Amino acid sequence: MANSNAVLHLKAMMMELALDRPLDMHLHLREGAMLELVAPLSAAQLAGAVIMPNLVPPIDTPARLAQYRAAVAAAAAPYAFTPYHTLFFRAYDEATLNAVRDQIIGIKLYPEGVTTNSAGGVRNLDEAEQTLALMEQLGIPLLVHGESHGFVLDREAEFLPVYRRLATRFPGLTIVMEHITTAAAVALLDELPNLFATVTLHHLLITLDDLAGGLLQPHLFCKPIAKRPGDRQALLGAALRPHPKLMLGSDSAPHPIDAKEAAGCAAGVFSAPVLLPMLAELFERHDALDRLQAFVSDHARRIYAIDPPPRRVMLIREAWRVPDRYGDVVPLAAGQQLMWSLAPFV
Ligand code: NCD
Ligand code: ZN
Repeated sequence: MANSNAVLHLKAMMMELALDRPLDMHLHLREGAMLELVAPLSAAQLAGAVIMPNLVPPIDTPARLAQYRAAVAAAAAPYAFTPYHTLFFRAYDEATLNAVRDQIIGIKLYPEGVTTNSAGGVRNLDEAEQTLALMEQLGIPLLVHGESHGFVLDREAEFLPVYRRLATRFPGLTIVMEHITTAAAVALLDELPNLFATVTLHHLLITLDDLAGGLLQPHLFCKPIAKRPGDRQALLGAALRPHPKLMLGSDSAPHPIDAKEAAGCAAGVFSAPVLLPMLAELFERHDALDRLQAFVSDHARRIYAIDPPPRRVMLIREAWRVPDRYGDVVPLAAGQQLMWSLAPFV
C-alpha cells in the first residue's frame, strides 16, 4: 500500500513541471501586425526575452529604440514579461552608448548580409574596434551572429577564429555566440572565459537531413543552417548537461507563409508557440527534466546578471495538437501532437 501510494505520488509529480522565470535569450518579435500576433505567444510562457534588432530600419538610434520598446511593451501586455532590448551594431560613440546603456542588454552584431535584414551589418571588423572597446568599458555585452560568407555548411566554423580574436583582444567584454550549430563552437566555450552561447530548440532537434534530406522542408530553413548529426549531438549534450555557459535562445523568427513556401524561401523557424512544451519533451526523453530550469533560466540570469520579476510558468503533461497556423505563420511542429502543454495563464 505504502509503495503504490509512493508510485501515485511520483506519477502526480511527473504530471506537471514548474519553471522559475524561463527566459528566451534570442527572439525575433518583428513589428506591426506580426509583433501583435507573436509577442503574446512568447509572453504567455516566458518571464522575459532578448529582443533582436534586425528590423527595417534597424534599431540603431535612441529614438528608434524608445519607439520599439513602447511597441513591444504594448504587444506583450498583460503578461509579466520583461523584454531585454538590443541595438543593431554600428560604430556608436560614447554619448550614445551612455544614453542607451540602461535600456539595453547588449548590442547585436551581424556581418553584412549574412541573414534576414542584415544588409546594414558590419563589413570590416577592424572598424568596429573603437565601439567594442567602449562596450567593454561600459559593461555592454556583444551578441554575435557568427557566420562567414563562405560555403553554407562551413560558415560558423570559419567564423570561430573571429570569436577567438575578439574574446582575446577584449577580455573584459562579454561575448555571446548566438544560435550555435556546431560541435566546434561548443568546444570553444571551454577555451575562452568571456565567451558564452545560445542554442535554439530546433538545432537540438534537427540536422540538415530533416531540412533537405527528403522533400524540402521550408519551415525548417534558417540561418545558421542545421548541420551534421555529430553537431546536433554535441549541442544536445551541452544543453542536457547543462553546460554553464550555454543558454536557451530560440531564434524564433516568424515569416508569413508566402515568404516561406516560395521559390526564394526566407530563413527563420517559428518556434515560439511550442518552445517550452517541446523542450520539456526533449529533456524528459533524455531523463533530464531536472536540468531544464538551469538551461532555460539560471544560466542566463547569471551570465547577464539580470533579475526578472517573479514568475512561475507551469507545464502540464497533457497532449495537444499544434495548430497548422498562427495567423499566416506556420509554427515548428505544425499539426503534430506534443506531450506537454502550457498551463492556462492565471
Ligand atoms: C532570422 C530572422 O528571420 O530575422 N532568421 C534566421 O534564419 N534565424 C535572422 C537571424 O537570426 O539570423
Ligand atoms: Zn536570430
